[in-house]
Amino acid sequence: MVKGRIFSGMQPSGNFHLGNYLGALSNWVKLQHEYECFFCIVDWHALTSSFEDPSRLPDYIHNMALDWLSAGLDPEKNRIFIQSHVKEHAELHLLLSMMTPLSWLERVPTYKDKLQQLGEQGKDINTYGFLGYPVLMTADIILYKADTVPVGEDQLPHLELAREMVRRFNFIYKQEVFPEPKGYIGAAPVVPGIDGRKMSKSYGNEIPFAASPEELRARVRLMVTDPQRIKRTDPGRPEICPVFTFHKLYSPAELGEIETDCRNAGIGCVDCKKRLAEHMVEALADIHHRRQDWAARPNDVKDILENGAKRARETAQATMEQVRSVMHMG
Ligand code: TYM
Repeated sequence: MVKGRIFSGMQPSGNFHLGNYLGALSNWVKLQHEYECFFCIVDWHALTSSFEDPSRLPDYIHNMALDWLSAGLDPEKNRIFIQSHVKEHAELHLLLSMMTPLSWLERVPTYKDKLQQLGEQGKDINTYGFLGYPVLMTADIILYKADTVPVGEDQLPHLELAREMVRRFNFIYKQEVFPEPKGYIGAAPVVPGIDGRKMSKSYGNEIPFAASPEELRARVRLMVTDPQRIKRTDPGRPEICPVFTFHKLYSPAELGEIETDCRNAGIGCVDCKKRLAEHMVEALADIHHRRQDWAARPNDVKDILENGAKRARETAQATMEQVRSVMHMG
């Protein structure tokens, strides 16, 4: 039996990394067997922070589709598509924007943080579109009446706003048009980068999803560990070590042993990282092979995205008819 309906999306910004994979995509791959799923490459969202030079978007979109397919998303079972190919996202975004209090948007914690962060990088995104980012995200989700949204922890404030928007819409138009979507957080809510902070391209601490085995080993070698473990003989604290966070995901069979050896200084950080890197290389090898196969079939990938949009549109159109009707829009 299908448990419900999933919508989730990712920005094609050309930096797909293990945070995106372990925090979100790996859960999508797992959940695709239990839910009816809509997976969307959100190109309009990518424009909110890079509207000045969109020339590389087509490339980023294609690469994101390759990443998703090689990770194991089934294009028959799921609707995999590009946001801007289903124009109903824009219409619903516009209608929702009429009823979104400005104060709700200004208090979204990611808004001010990102504004400041990008400002420091010399990017001016003091725009209407950027402020409305979570409204577009709400439109994405509720256009399909999705009840479950698998994401990393950083997206939860946006989902809180989406739930508030749904309550407001249903209340104003006196009909339960939309269900309240809830987040689904998997085993890795916040994947650390090599410096121990949240993995993110803006920190330059990412491990690229498409990294070659050599690159993977090199990135893992650079990872920070327990800062109190200065000498090889010092005992370590796995609970605060980013390397151990990755062991939890990549070395489940040896986890107990690694934990004990770390606490007893039975293993040094260098060797501990070497073990992790080999497990990661092995786990990602299949995905990388499949990626090469998909990369050799660009027309098939294009067809998958077109077909996905066609199927997504059917659901989107049915929702919009209902929305227009309750809003007396002809
Ligand atoms: P985006 O493109 O920044 O990230 C895509 C997904 O990857 C997750 N993620 C992480 N998870 C754990 N640890 C990390 N270090 C890490 N870095 C990234 C994110 O939580 C996300 O799930 N606003 C969204 C895109 C979006 C969307 C939607 C998502 C647009 N519409 C509707 C869900 C539903 C974003 O910018 O994700």
